[in-house]
Parts: sequence; C-alpha cells; structure tokens
Amino acid sequence: KSADHVRIVEVGPRDGLQNEKQSIPVATKIELVERLAQTGLKTIEAGSFVSPKWVPQMANSSEILEHILRTTIKSPHPITYQFLLPNVKGLDNFLSIWQNQSSQQDAYPTPPPSPATDEGPALNTSSSDPNAMPSAASGAEAMGKERGASSSATGAGIELSIFTAATESFAQKNTNCSIAESLERFQPIMTRAKELDLNVRAYISVALGCPYEGPNVDPHKVADLAVSLLEMGADEISVGDTTGMGTAPKTAELLKTLSAAGIPNNELALHFHDTYGQALVNSVVGLEHGIRTFDAAVGGLGGCPYSPGATGNVATEDLVHCFHSLGAKTGVDIEKLSEIGEWISNKLGRANESRAGKATLAQ
Ligand code: HMG
Ligand code: MG
Repeated sequence: KSADHVRIVEVGPRDGLQNEKQSIPVATKIELVERLAQTGLKTIEAGSFVSPKWVPQMANSSEILEHILRTTIKSPHPITYQFLLPNVKGLDNFLSIWQNQSSQQDAYPTPPPSPATDEGPALNTSSSDPNAMPSAASGAEAMGKERGASSSATGAGIELSIFTAATESFAQKNTNCSIAESLERFQPIMTRAKELDLNVRAYISVALGCPYEGPNVDPHKVADLAVSLLEMGADEISVGDTTGMGTAPKTAELLKTLSAAGIPNNELALHFHDTYGQALVNSVVGLEHGIRTFDAAVGGLGGCPYSPGATGNVATEDLVHCFHSLGAKTGVDIEKLSEIGEWISNKLGRANESRAGKATLAQ
C-alpha cells in the first residue's frame, strides 16, 4: 500500500450516537455498522463498554459486539471494529462476549481479503511544500488485520480503545478520576489486551481546549501523556479536539510538540469535533504534517456527553471529499457514505451535518 493512503476511523456508531437523548434501537445501530462496512471504510468504532448510568445510550453495545462476532458482515475487505472502555469492569464485560466467541474461532475459516477497490485519485505531489505528504505514516500498513488486530471467527478484526484527558477537570467529569488514576486503570487493561493479542488505541481528550479549563491546553502535557500511553503499550494515540476549540495554528503547534517529543506520525490519529467549523482545516493541517489516520463520523453525528455544547465529529463525507481533492486515497465510496449520512440523520430526526454528503446526493 502506498504512503498517500489515509485511514479513516469511522466513530459515528460510538461517538456519533452516544449523546443522543432518544433511545436508539439496537437494530438501527447494527444497520448503521453494517452499511458503513460496505463503503470501503476499514475501521469502525462500533460501541463502548462504559457505565450505563453515565452513558445510557451505549448500554446495548454488547449486542453489537455479539452481532459482529457471530455474523459475517458484508464488506469489500476485512474490517476492524473498535470498542471503547474506561476500566477493568468494561474490559470484563467486553471479554465475557469476545472470549466466549473466540473459543469457537477455529471452527470457522477466516475469509481471505477481497481485492482493493478504487481508492480515489493519486496524491497530488505538485503541492507547494514537497515535504507536505511524508511517507512515514502509511495508514495502510497500520490497518485492520495488517496491524495485528485480533481477528474473530467471522474475519472481523477487534480492537479496544481507552480514553483519558489532557486536563484534570475533564478527566474528573468524564471518568470520575484524575489523569494519574486513569493511567493506573489502564495498566491491567493493557496487560490483559497484550496477552490476548488485542490492539489498544488510546484517546487523549480536550487536547486543543477544555470546556472547564478553557482553550489553552498545554501541548507539552498532551505530549507527555501520549508518551506515557505509548510506553504503557498503546498501539495508537488519538488526539481529541473534544470541544472543537482547535484552530489551524494551535493544531500545527500541537503536532510540532508531539513530533519534538519523539512520537512518530504513524502512531498518531487526529479526532476533530466541528463545533467551531474548524475540523476540516485542522485535518488538512494534520495531513500536511504527515498524519495518516483521522477519525470522523458519518453525517457529522455526535458530541461528547461531558462536553456541553460540543457538536459532532468532522463529517466523514466532508473529510473524504476534501482528502480526495488533495490526492489522498481513502478507499471510501462517498456516494454510499452520503446515503448513509442522510439515512441515519433522518432516523434520528436531526439535520444532516455533512455539506459534501448533501451536495453529493443533490448531484
Ligand atoms: P464511577 O461511578 O466512578 O464507577 O464511574 P465505579 O467504579 O465507582 O462503579 C460504579 C458503578 O458503575 C458500579 O455498579 C460498577 O459496577 C459500574 P453498581 O455497583 O453501582 O451497580 N461500572 C460499570 N458498569 C458497566 N461498565 C463499566 C463500568 N464501570 C463501573 N465499564 C466510569 C467511572 C469510568 C465507569 C464512568 O465515569 C464512565 O463510564 N464514564 C464514561 C463516560 C463516557 O463514556 N464518555 C464518553 C466517551 S469519551 C469521549 O467521547 C471522548 C472521545 O470521543 C475523544 C474526544 O472527543 O475527546 C473518545
Ligand atoms: Mg469524540
């Protein structure tokens, strides 16, 4: 796979839905995951094993995991499904389903990967900055089963994601513990995940602004935390602009600080919420810095329950349209994706927040 490939982590089924007040039927969530699996996306965050008292909407994530593990979801290539969890209790709940299924794993053959689909135009190398698209971070090499995601009987890769924050106030509000305590909670999760050959992604929230401590979060704090998480065994850090307070200069400064701390681009992902309409421009800053993994939510769904007023992630359709225009390859079919954005927005009775999605459908 070439260096101009961008890996998009579709977080709509988790980040996109977790904040919806109405109870969403599990069948709708499963249909969302199944439809997304047919667009060319290769990584989908499908749910979370958090306290149902804190985030009731995610309470039926175990049924989604069961479905993924039991059913061979139609997709053009193997897909990695991620599940978010904050503590050992969440891990135990996840494992009670995952281990039960994987004990039957040998009974089924793993389907071979299908041939690659059209992945969009070649990367535009006539950029004014010849170093704008460095080859260091090939998202393709870090993808799906190729990056060691533990595979299930149905051929689906499964990964875990854990989350902490760059500020003490947000860590307390979101997980009822300090940052240091969150790292202590992760240690046994990491140990167990490594024993079970499960990849672990680690989110750092409020990296570019905190709802409780304001817009100026120290980038060195983010870098120190990222180093600690990688040393602990995290396979990837997703740097979260939870509040959407990030701007292009702040994003560039944060990325420089992360690089200066020795963190390679291929161990980083960027996770932008679009509250101030800056998510796309910040994503391009990330692309130019050499990041090749980006989180997004179809239809721009979502918001964090502990970040008041925060809106959804950058819309996947908008990110795909933008990256293709720059010559980056995502492998994603924007038409199929746009239909899903419209469908799920209608199901939830909310506006479709993707400009590119609406425009694609209007063509
Ligand atoms: P706590 O109340 O301090 O937990 O919550 P506790 O350990 O004291 O346990 C209290 C009760 O919860 C007990 O039950 C536990 O068993 C149960 P009881 O004895 O009262 O019946 N419990 C659980 N149940 C199910 N699953 C679990 C679990 N843990 C405890 N995992 C806790 C601490 C961390 C659990 C809680 O604060 C929590 O679940 N927080 C999650 C909040 C959340 O999901 N936020 C959104 C996701 S993060 C995000 O969106 C940001 C991101 O997108 C990146 C970005 O944008 O920045 C990732
Ligand atoms: Mg988020």
